[in-house]
Amino acid sequence: MLQGKHIVLGITGGIAAYKSASLTRLLVKAGAEVQVIMTPSAREFIAPLTLSTLTGKPVITEFFTANTGEWHSHVDLGLWADAMVVAPATACTIGKMAHGVADNMLVTTYLSAKAPVFVAPAMDLDMMAHPSTTANLNLLRSYGNHIIEPASGELASHLIGKGRMEEPERIVEVLREFFSSKGQFAGKRVLVTAGPTYERIDPVRFIGNFSSGKMGYAIADALADRGAEVVLVSGPVGELKPRNPRVEVRKIESALQMLDECQKVWPAADMAVMTAAVADYRVENRADSKIKREGNLAPELRLVENPDIAATLGASKKPGQLLIGFALETDNEAAHAANKLKRKNLDAIVLNSLRDAGAGFGTDTNKITILSADGSAKPYPLKTKREVAADVADFISSLLK
Ligand code: C5P
Repeated sequence: MLQGKHIVLGITGGIAAYKSASLTRLLVKAGAEVQVIMTPSAREFIAPLTLSTLTGKPVITEFFTANTGEWHSHVDLGLWADAMVVAPATACTIGKMAHGVADNMLVTTYLSAKAPVFVAPAMDLDMMAHPSTTANLNLLRSYGNHIIEPASGELASHLIGKGRMEEPERIVEVLREFFSSKGQFAGKRVLVTAGPTYERIDPVRFIGNFSSGKMGYAIADALADRGAEVVLVSGPVGELKPRNPRVEVRKIESALQMLDECQKVWPAADMAVMTAAVADYRVENRADSKIKREGNLAPELRLVENPDIAATLGASKKPGQLLIGFALETDNEAAHAANKLKRKNLDAIVLNSLRDAGAGFGTDTNKITILSADGSAKPYPLKTKREVAADVADFISSLLK
């Protein structure tokens, strides 16, 4: 997968820079052509000679070679790259990339790069946890960059926490997965639902649930990354945004609005992935003005059933269309999920159990089993929601074949 690929490897000044030599070696062994760019401080941590020997190309740090005046074009490098990887990425470089502070060759090339960019942060746990780092990483994500999350463990400071650069083997794996999956969904139109629905009681109150939308947004991103045209019909999820700028978000509030939006998209869609936690009931006697506390009588809410959006789409499913559901269960998980798969006319259902630690609403991780219409069940280990989304996308792609 990496054979002949042009990789620009940006190395910044952190102690994890020593791992960049192994990363370079692994990339070259996998057949990639690697051009290393180091920031000036990276050269304090690892010698350019080590990297130029491994890549067979001079390392670039400056905009030009002082004694010959030879100009290194960040524009040409940005166009040459099939992928740019910044590993390790310090808090400083992450901040510069997020804000376009192009005061060195690495950030300048990043701004010129047309290729996907992968960023592997490495820093001390307090720097990693600082709100400015979080905000800068979120900015990088919002520009469509891929963040290779650092692992937890012992850091150079001997403190223990999150901030260790991901191991070179795993970074190479991420690149391999990226190149192998690109285009899996090219030309496919996909509908994804995500988040909770809010059912109004009066103008200031609603019935809702704890769905964060993270799983659905990760699925929308994973499918868009693989070439799909994605429409994401989303309930209220605060500031959450898709990372892939090609995902079209349509915001709704209630189940009825979600159904309405889905029905506009479904007839021309190749598939739908229903991750939303849709409210089962809405308030029939919704008040037009704020309900006041009057006397001792508590107001009575009359509930009526909401439409089942997945089942409605399932009932009008045409040959060739795929419909994937999610099921969050607390007991008798497989049986309940299998039942839903049938009742809603789904092709597969992604089951997660609230009994599994790390699965369910609000967490950044999930543990799933995918049940198919043919009766098979595929369990997966606990992973981040982004990794789970990649697994779901790969699974759907296997159904396409
Ligand atoms: O029946 P249950 O809510 O557990 O089913 C979950 C699956 O059905 C999810 O894929 C969810 O998005 C979808 N669903 C829906 N409309 C509803 C209820 C559930 O699309 N009203």
